[in-house]
Amino acid sequence: SRHLLGIRNLSEQDIEFLLNRAEKAVEVSRRPDKKTSSLRGRTQINLFFEASTRTQASFELAGKRLGADVMNMSVAASSVKKGETLIDTAMTLNAMRPDILVIRHGSSGAADLLAQKVDCAVVNAGDGQHEHPTQALLDALTIRRHKGRLQGLTVAICGDVLHSRVARSDIFLLGKMGARIRLVGPSTLMPAGVEEFGVEVFHRLEDGIANADVVMMLRLQRERMAGAFVPSEREYFRYFGLDTKKLAFAKDDAIVMHPGPMNRGVEIASLMADAPQSVIEEQVEMGVAVRMAVLELLAAPSHNEEGAT
Ligand code: CP
Repeated sequence: SRHLLGIRNLSEQDIEFLLNRAEKAVEVSRRPDKKTSSLRGRTQINLFFEASTRTQASFELAGKRLGADVMNMSVAASSVKKGETLIDTAMTLNAMRPDILVIRHGSSGAADLLAQKVDCAVVNAGDGQHEHPTQALLDALTIRRHKGRLQGLTVAICGDVLHSRVARSDIFLLGKMGARIRLVGPSTLMPAGVEEFGVEVFHRLEDGIANADVVMMLRLQRERMAGAFVPSEREYFRYFGLDTKKLAFAKDDAIVMHPGPMNRGVEIASLMADAPQSVIEEQVEMGVAVRMAVLELLAAPSHNEEGAT
């Protein structure tokens, strides 16, 4: 496909291919010059309707490291504020002939909708509670670099699973790659019927992370809980916050992950976030590499094009 809208429709081979390409991008990003020219002349527009630090910054850096012209559309200062719709905004940008549109939006399905309307490649940078495919790829790359594989690992995804597009994409990706997935959290933050996806569900953190290779904490997404049950932070931390005492239930060499942004002292103890077991900053570095791999695959000129006159 010329778009990356989610993990659900990717094959094991697609994922392996992207992770291997991302490994090469890690090497490029660690060189002093950091740049290639594979996207020279290509135009990338980042269109973020929801707040972002990591995803937007890394898509921008990824495009620039590949030599693309990258434009960050400032939605807050755009005509969206005057009532222009998502589709009209996208069609306006489409008329400027971009090669790639990276979109983040609060509605599930927004990226799929855009992909049907515009002429260029669309990359989903997070849509509502649906998918966040590049996050799952960077999580997988980080795990693979530490554990050497994904197959057969026990990965505990903990916390507010209900509102998490990261969890959905991770479940699809890690499941396809043969990891054993456990979901851990209060029943009020667990999607109904999630066992269908071949995961095990736990409601006690210590049980869910017992002997796990990877402990992935999720942010408590209070902005998506309007009118619903909102746990008190202190109580949530007591039962579902990861600290060194609870982590002792996992394997001795377990790694601790968090997609960010973190609520320190809510889902993860501040000391835990900065502990040697934490690979949270490495996840951010892998984010740039994974996005380079995705952008290059979708927008680099094909051999046919290069050969054409
Ligand atoms: N993990 C993630 O998507 O972070 P941002 O919301 O800061 O992009």
